[in-house]
Amino acid sequence: MSKIISVRRYSGEALIPYIPDLARLRIEVFRDFPYLYDGSLDYEKKYLQTYIDNPASVIVLALDGDKVVGASTALPMKDETEELQRPFLENGYNIDDVFYCSESVLDKNYRGLGIGVRFFEEREAHAADLGGFKHITFCCVERPVDHPRRPADYVPLDAFWNKRGYFKHPELKTSYVWKDLDDTEETAKPMTFWLKHER
Ligand SMILES: CC(C)(COP(=O)(O)OP(=O)(O)OC[C@H]1O[C@@H](n2cnc3c(N)ncnc32)[C@H](O)[C@@H]1OP(=O)(O)O)[C@@H](O)C(=O)NCCC(=O)NCCS
Repeated sequence: MSKIISVRRYSGEALIPYIPDLARLRIEVFRDFPYLYDGSLDYEKKYLQTYIDNPASVIVLALDGDKVVGASTALPMKDETEELQRPFLENGYNIDDVFYCSESVLDKNYRGLGIGVRFFEEREAHAADLGGFKHITFCCVERPVDHPRRPADYVPLDAFWNKRGYFKHPELKTSYVWKDLDDTEETAKPMTFWLKHER
């Protein structure tokens, strides 16, 4: 592993060569608690196509040489699905004011090097370049504290997010449907939003 990792923003067709690697990385990282996502490459490729097709979206890639070791995605909330927009509309937000950070995934061998901080900085810089956003948000799955797959040494990312200026908003809730590792069918998972106010 080289320690010279490039972390920079990609949009549109420039993403195409990285999609297979990126899809595999998402499946690998999201198998872990708290996501426990039993993903498929077909679904991942369809999901990532959204980013190729939307010029306002961004994927920040962490590359070790040509190898994708991390990625972080974001786009304006107005381009997101109804289930993500609904809690904001119900709570009186103007959807055009909200920028949505979808996820960050990093190969375990590259954690603790500051790449997670860069992912936030680059996505926030992209939002600033687009202009006009008052709130930046992301959401996190809620799992019971006694969940059987919760590792004994699991540390939630709450302190990391607080330090980046994001705070939990329990009034902003939605659900996402996916198939957990131990399940045979998809089920809805409760998700809570975190928010940072830009101005
Ligand atoms: C979240 C993630 C991208 C962070 O990446 P990272 O490059 O290791 O983070 P950094 O090195 O930039 O560390 C940032 C800070 O968070 C802390 N931190 C990082 N990972 C942490 C963890 N798992 N638990 C607790 N604290 C953590 C670091 O100590 C550091 O603190 P500091 O700012 O006080 O120095 C990475 O852990 C990951 O891929 N996790 C699995 C997927 C995930 O949970 N994604 C987020 C939601 S989609």
